[in-house]
Amino acid sequence: MEIVKVSASKEYNVHIGSGFLDLVGEKIKEIKRLCRVVIISDDTVYSLYGERVSKSLEDSGYNVVKFVVPHGEDSKSFENYESILEFCAENSITRTDLFVALGGGVVGDLTGFVASTYLRGVDFVQIPTTVLSMVDSSVGGKTAINLKAGKNLCGAFYQPIAVFADCETLKTLPEETFNEGCAEIIKYGMILDKDFLTFLQDNDIRNNIEYVIKRCVEIKRDVVNRDEFEKGERKLLNFGHTIGHAIEKCSNLTISHGNAVAIGMVIATKGAYEIGMSDEDFTDVILPILEKNNLPTACDFSAEELYKASLSDKKRSLDTMSLIVPEEYGLCKIMKLPVEDLQNFIEKGMN
Ligand SMILES: NC(=O)c1ccc[n+]([C@@H]2O[C@H](COP(=O)([O-])OP(=O)(O)OC[C@H]3O[C@@H](n4cnc5c(N)ncnc54)[C@H](O)[C@@H]3O)[C@@H](O)[C@H]2O)c1
Ligand SMILES: [Zn+2]
Repeated sequence: MEIVKVSASKEYNVHIGSGFLDLVGEKIKEIKRLCRVVIISDDTVYSLYGERVSKSLEDSGYNVVKFVVPHGEDSKSFENYESILEFCAENSITRTDLFVALGGGVVGDLTGFVASTYLRGVDFVQIPTTVLSMVDSSVGGKTAINLKAGKNLCGAFYQPIAVFADCETLKTLPEETFNEGCAEIIKYGMILDKDFLTFLQDNDIRNNIEYVIKRCVEIKRDVVNRDEFEKGERKLLNFGHTIGHAIEKCSNLTISHGNAVAIGMVIATKGAYEIGMSDEDFTDVILPILEKNNLPTACDFSAEELYKASLSDKKRSLDTMSLIVPEEYGLCKIMKLPVEDLQNFIEKGMN
């Protein structure tokens, strides 16, 4: 098992390996004294792995209760958030107890936000079970639920006390969901690591999944260690996301996060070159990697629709927008764009 150590406001280890789900109880016992544990999961993941995780914790001496939400993005809701808080209060969960997020980014974001606010903060552990959650959402402490006005508009920075990424769980992941996670993997190569970008051009992600996850976690760890609260460099992780979120919004969330980010990265890469923010055109670098991983590279929405949808983006100040664009092969930079120029940027990026 590989361990990547994160040193943010909290220090914790990300464990990456295969086939250690049944040992999670013992591993948690090394960092958390016996207590009550609330496992939060979705119905799909719980039916696959819930009993194993629960048994492992119980065999190690923990007292376990569970809260299972329906699978899907809609579960990152205020209603679920409230129901879980009430459930915890009814079950007399105390400040020294523990939450365990078992699932993808939806469960991780929801659990993290519950953990950050229940009794002003309770420890939580991430057990990510999707590619996306292993390489991205389980590490770095961003937690959130969605509001009607948009995704992730209510949340907190709150780090877990440990992350356990068991790659064996990815075997049950639908192919489409696996591929969506690859968008975030490709993002890391584009923004910060030219060697990793070359690796992705030359190799298959699936056949190298443990290495790929470890490398992504290391890249994210380095960024988070330097800029946990997204004052600067951490914004790089939003490459493809401003337009990606607009695509998700225009599709009423029928286009998944990963697919939307894939399209968003293409538009940002092309648009940046066309309007002179990037000196070189890296479209022919990103397109083949996305295609090779069966990710979409275009959508049917108009530039105007995407522009309007992106106006509620969190990366926006009054009249400028932070955009992440390629600077060199395997390196991105943060640029400010006047909001009124964004539609043109998107339009150029879509051609
Ligand atoms: N906090 C962050 O830093 C951060 C970063 C990126 C994305 N996100 C958030 O993550 C969410 C997307 O995460 P996701 O792509 O993991 O989606 P998800 O959690 O909805 O999981 C995708 C689907 O796969 C199923 N699933 C999960 N693991 C499985 C397994 N091992 N076998 C079979 N099925 C499985 C789930 O039930 C679900 O239906 C979005 O809400 C996004 O905003 C957060
Ligand atoms: Zn993302």
